Amino acid sequence: MALSTPRILCLGSALARRAAPSFLLQQQFRMFSDNAAAEAAKAAPEVVKADPGAKSKIRGVQMLIFGGLGAGFLYGYSLFTSQVPQTGPLVSPAAPAPKTSTPGDYAAVRASISSLLDADYDDGSYGPLLVRLAWHASGTYDKVSCTGGSNGATMRFPPECAWAANRGLAIARDLLEPVKAAHPWISYSDLWTLAGVVAIEDMGGPTVAWRPGRVDYPDGSKIVPDGRLPDATQGAKHLRNIFHRMGFDDRDIVALSGAHTLGRCHPDRSGFSGPWTNAPTTFSNLYFQELVNNKWRPKKWDGPLQYEDAKTGTLMMLPTDLALLSDRTFKKWVSLYAKDEQEFFKDFAVAFGKLMELGVPFPEKPAAAS
Ligand code: HEM
Repeated sequence: MALSTPRILCLGSALARRAAPSFLLQQQFRMFSDNAAAEAAKAAPEVVKADPGAKSKIRGVQMLIFGGLGAGFLYGYSLFTSQVPQTGPLVSPAAPAPKTSTPGDYAAVRASISSLLDADYDDGSYGPLLVRLAWHASGTYDKVSCTGGSNGATMRFPPECAWAANRGLAIARDLLEPVKAAHPWISYSDLWTLAGVVAIEDMGGPTVAWRPGRVDYPDGSKIVPDGRLPDATQGAKHLRNIFHRMGFDDRDIVALSGAHTLGRCHPDRSGFSGPWTNAPTTFSNLYFQELVNNKWRPKKWDGPLQYEDAKTGTLMMLPTDLALLSDRTFKKWVSLYAKDEQEFFKDFAVAFGKLMELGVPFPEKPAAAS
């Protein structure tokens, strides 16, 4: 994260203010001025004795010191309270540089999204949450009725924004609001899907083909019935029902599930808890390696059935994740991706690109969405 000089100064002053409570500062100032008086007295005792104006000279020195310190403090405070352009979040998400871009400048939007990712949030990045937003915005698609999908950005409206499956995603939508404000010409539906793609790339994943063209619906009248997103408590049959409905095959299901190499489960959102890997902000094939290399046992806890690795008990798998091991066809792809990260990246990029385009009436279909 790049920090401008004023930002560093501003932070320095803020830290100093935090680190040194005012009574300590007062104490130091008092000691400093007492010492200054004693030093002056030691250095020129005769002056102190002989010159009745010496006291006022010392007072003058004290005033100078206080004056200097006061001016410094005021300068620091003015920096602290002034509007400094934010280049990225520090503790909470910061607005991206408030520059406007010309319509169609997607590189500028990408840069704004990138600047938001690293933050003091979860494991150090909003990336996984943005990937989940992009996926849940798209994964409502039904290829038979041609309803749902990323077009429309209907998750802005109730009841979709309040579905249990979408708990926590308001954080991601709010995070992207300053990006939308800086580039008002982009639709929410393009922004959310682009954010997922940028996050994957920034976390070390493959380049996903993405193109604009989604339009936002004005209201929630096209929201599909709840229940189209997968239920983590279920098994292979359920996964096939859900993903075949979107137009994906078994290989796609396994590749897409590899996104669980990112992020973690939150008890207050899904009820599940913990990360799938020890590197949840890096896109890799670690999820598949953990799946095949560990023994998984049911976690003993006061929560829904989930699994933990027998060795450390720190990693987790959902019942749907373990279904990829127990189903013979799924397992074939799990084994391949555990061994060959390039193969996983290639398949994931195609499947994720297709997912982002579900339900979007592009004039022509790209190779990825055939
Ligand atoms: C296969 C069926 C799937 C099920 C049952 C499932 C279920 C879940 C659940 C329960 C969580 C935890 C949410 C929370 O507590 O915050 C989660 C997180 C996540 N899912 Fe999935 N998911 C599935 C597929 C996918 C797909 C296809 C993607 C993307 C391609 C994906 C990406 C993510 C990411 C990145 C997170 C982490 C979010 C965070 O750290 O905040 N998932 N998923």
